[in-house]
Amino acid sequence: MNYRIGKIEGIRTLTKSIKEYEIVLDEPINPEPGQFAMLWIPGVGEIPLSFADAETKRIKFIVARVGKVTGHMHDKLRAGDKVFIRGPLGRGFTRIRGGRALLVAGGYGLAPLYFLSRKLRSMECGVKALLGFKSDDEIFYVKEFEELVETEISVEHGSSGHRGTVLDLFKDVIRVERFNMVYACGREELNLALIRKCLRMGVPVEASFERIMRCGAGICGSCSIEPLGIRVCRDGPVIDGSMIAPMLEAP
Ligand SMILES: Cc1cc2nc3c(=O)[nH]c(=O)nc-3n(C[C@H](O)[C@H](O)[C@H](O)COP(=O)(O)OP(=O)(O)OC[C@H]3O[C@@H](n4cnc5c(N)ncnc54)[C@H](O)[C@@H]3O)c2cc1C
Ligand code: FES
Repeated sequence: MNYRIGKIEGIRTLTKSIKEYEIVLDEPINPEPGQFAMLWIPGVGEIPLSFADAETKRIKFIVARVGKVTGHMHDKLRAGDKVFIRGPLGRGFTRIRGGRALLVAGGYGLAPLYFLSRKLRSMECGVKALLGFKSDDEIFYVKEFEELVETEISVEHGSSGHRGTVLDLFKDVIRVERFNMVYACGREELNLALIRKCLRMGVPVEASFERIMRCGAGICGSCSIEPLGIRVCRDGPVIDGSMIAPMLEAP
């Protein structure tokens, strides 16, 4: 697959370890929420990133500092620099038509769910978002969500929003409210716990999963979810909860 050339238009610091990158491409791109791109910086490396937003040639990524490539992005990239984009790749979220959707995000997992909430709102679906953060100084993008949809936050160690994990908040919310669909993106334990709960309640659920990726094209096998053999780059990253069910039953 060919690379598109992207020029960094703006960089926004969201927390001490998370930045937002607005990139303008040399040609239009039309990803679905939940799909990802491989972002390549020559001489540094290539990483998968979920689209946090996209409109014709303009895209956004929200990037947490982890290691080599994300560290380079945080420390060295400036407005005007070039990056190379391969995508859109993988399977995105299935959009419901009508009804109410619940979005559950942990940390930078909110990136694809922000893009999804924009699309769902444009279809006039009811949407509620639950955003989970570890501490007060890790909170970001709440205003952006609040401008679009009903939003609640949870903080594990802090004084903002609900005290506890976003899974605790989710359990409280679904005790009193009904939803036609749940969409999740967070750490694997969060995704699996949400899927387990939703399947028990009979609510359709989709979650975006992460694995270390190399080819991004379903060839190398580095991104397999074992023992199911699901390739996150090709069969995901968004996976229907029912496909994960056998993993939940494993000891
Ligand atoms: C489909 C998909 C979408 C993603 N979307 C986003 C996004 O929107 N924003 C964002 O910040 N990140 C996202 N990620 C994660 C991001 O790709 C990794 O953080 C990045 O590849 C790390 O690269 P690095 O060179 O900075 O770290 P490296 O130097 O490669 O790694 C540093 C350490 O982190 C571990 N590591 C690296 N990647 C992963 C991973 N995916 N899972 C578990 N451990 C890992 C490595 O084993 C190593 O120990 C996504 C990943 C996938 C698969
Ligand atoms: S990254 Fe190579 S098969 Fe998925």
